[in-house]
Amino acid sequence: MSVYLDYAATTPLRKEVFDCYVEHLQTLGNPSSVHSSGQLVRRALEEARESLAKSVDCNRSEVIFTSGGTESDNLAIKGLFWQRVAEDAKRTVIISAATEHHASIDPMEWLEKHDGAEILWLPVDDQGAVDLLFLEQYLSANHSKVALINLMWANNETGVITDIEKVVTLARPYEIPVHSDAIAAFGHIPISFSESGLAAMSISAHKIGGPVGAGALIVSRATKLVSIIHGGGQERGMRSGTMNAPVAKAFALAAELAIAELSEEYSRLEALRNKLVQGVKEITPLARLTAELSPRMPHNAHFSFDGCSGDSLLFLLDQQGVCVSVGSACQAGVNGPSHVLVAMGRTPSQANGCIRMTLGKQSTEADVDAFLHALPKALDGALRAGMTG
Ligand SMILES: Cc1ncc(COP(=O)(O)O)c(C=O)c1O
Repeated sequence: MSVYLDYAATTPLRKEVFDCYVEHLQTLGNPSSVHSSGQLVRRALEEARESLAKSVDCNRSEVIFTSGGTESDNLAIKGLFWQRVAEDAKRTVIISAATEHHASIDPMEWLEKHDGAEILWLPVDDQGAVDLLFLEQYLSANHSKVALINLMWANNETGVITDIEKVVTLARPYEIPVHSDAIAAFGHIPISFSESGLAAMSISAHKIGGPVGAGALIVSRATKLVSIIHGGGQERGMRSGTMNAPVAKAFALAAELAIAELSEEYSRLEALRNKLVQGVKEITPLARLTAELSPRMPHNAHFSFDGCSGDSLLFLLDQQGVCVSVGSACQAGVNGPSHVLVAMGRTPSQANGCIRMTLGKQSTEADVDAFLHALPKALDGALRAGMTG
């Protein structure tokens, strides 16, 4: 059995969630059909919506089910941009940061290339913190040009948390909608959509023990956006296509369990993570904990190791049965330095020498011990291979 330290990439499907998913897969009916079979499935779907709304702290009508985090980010960014430009053609600026996930960066760059958007990349410091003073000053001089602000709640690579409430406070006087990708944060730290003041927020099921291919965009009732998929007009007209009730049920249950266990898991995983960080520092002076001074997610430890490549380390740890990651799994197979670390001012070579360990529900002390046991041999091999691994 391998030791899995890559919960930020994806998590095991929880047994209760699997059972719920399978049970609902066996029910026949299209939730839009008016006959009783359809209405049975509709009821399951609406129960899932109600339950997910409780977990997110929003109104049930604000939950738009999607096929996952990438679709939610695309719908929020393109949908808000198109809506705002339709209302006022001068509003072409999207404010964001280069540390965002590619599920956000790529739709923004697509709009820049094909649809007249201009992106303002906010400065990011070496601790991964987005410069909110710069944002404040920019908004005060340029608010009439801004379509939307897009900033993630927590970074999936470094675990750095952004002060989203502050961002919303800065945007509110100018009525600029803010979307936040909360995919790396939801289920791990307390989040209330209604208190956040966000216009939209993306979440994904497979990061919290739910199935892959399930997500939601939470869209406040006051927010309008243009759909990117056209068809039957389901999900308040924002996301056409037959709704997937079994997946929605499974997602809602995973969220309910994650929220019920959040405070206990927060402390448990933070203690495990701190043990891992301390252990790595004792093994080698070459280890540098990323964004040590920033508020960070409790289950994330991201290190750079001078003089060796993250790919070599990953490979040599994997050979010993330990799964870690070099960055975002969504870019698997793409070689090159992490764009997040480069945005934080690291050289490409430094940005290549990183690994990320992320913990979750099934993580134990034995997992951390196994990682710390495997690390010296992996480091030794990676250092001998140098930066070429
Ligand atoms: C911060 C963040 N945004 C978006 C995504 C994409 O989500 P999904 O895999 O559900 O499409 C991920 C997944 O790695 C993520 O970590």
